[in-house]
Amino acid sequence: MKFKFEALKKDYSDFSSDKVLINAPRTPAFPVRVASEIMARCLSFLKNTDHLTIYDPCCGGAHLLTVLGFLYSTNLARIYGSDIDEKALTYARKNLDLLTGESLQQKIKALQADNKAQDEQTQSTEVLNSANRLATMLLDAKAPQKEVQCFQWDITKDSPTFSENVNIVITDLPYGNMTHWQGDSKEPPTKRLLDNIYQTLDVNNSVIAIICNKKERIAHNNFTQVNRLKHGKRQIFILQPLKSLK
Ligand SMILES: C[S@@+](CC[C@H](N)C(=O)[O-])C[C@H]1O[C@@H](n2cnc3c(N)ncnc32)[C@H](O)[C@@H]1O
Repeated sequence: MKFKFEALKKDYSDFSSDKVLINAPRTPAFPVRVASEIMARCLSFLKNTDHLTIYDPCCGGAHLLTVLGFLYSTNLARIYGSDIDEKALTYARKNLDLLTGESLQQKIKALQADNKAQDEQTQSTEVLNSANRLATMLLDAKAPQKEVQCFQWDITKDSPTFSENVNIVITDLPYGNMTHWQGDSKEPPTKRLLDNIYQTLDVNNSVIAIICNKKERIAHNNFTQVNRLKHGKRQIFILQPLKSLK
């Protein structure tokens, strides 16, 4: 994949999962530069890019979703994540809560207290610096106050009951050794996922990015493919909903 929007490699270490954000066990951390490039491409397909709702229906520990919440704080007003795995969601809630600002401020206070108690510059100083830089991203004057929702859901079963307001879906599907599809759907999980996601979308202003392994084919009658990217062992399908079907 050629980086069109994230052309310059930056230092993304503030998002490392051993600093302010955390990673759920057995959920691989998604590369931040690739995530940002995918999000920028998604935004390029939207008519309106303000006060958007983003949804990740296989959010795991929500590392990916939280990173996007910070990097695209000025575009996002509602951030929704769901997963079938309740254990992963305990991590997701901690990550996503950071985006509302309050728990990030609490973390900063705790780190400041830690730092005062120690004489030397330690790892906690580095973490504190990262936390402060992340907080700045939320304080941008153009960044709307965020509503965060995180809940248990089998996306191969039904559609969650959002009121058709989702603008961006970005999801890293279960593949490889670390995560697998769960649930008891008789149909292929990706078909059910796309059936259900379609119901949540604002069809007049939405786009979805499905990240999957190289062998997967993502196609559905309700969507048209607008972009397809390959990066390492991953491929990314970017689709838009067909309006006439709703
Ligand atoms: C590759 S991981 C996602 C990692 C996530 N992007 C992160 O940043 O932590 C895929 C996730 O899909 C979830 N999953 C598997 N089957 C599912 C289903 N039927 N409905 C919803 N989520 C499912 C797994 O529990 C796993 O957390």
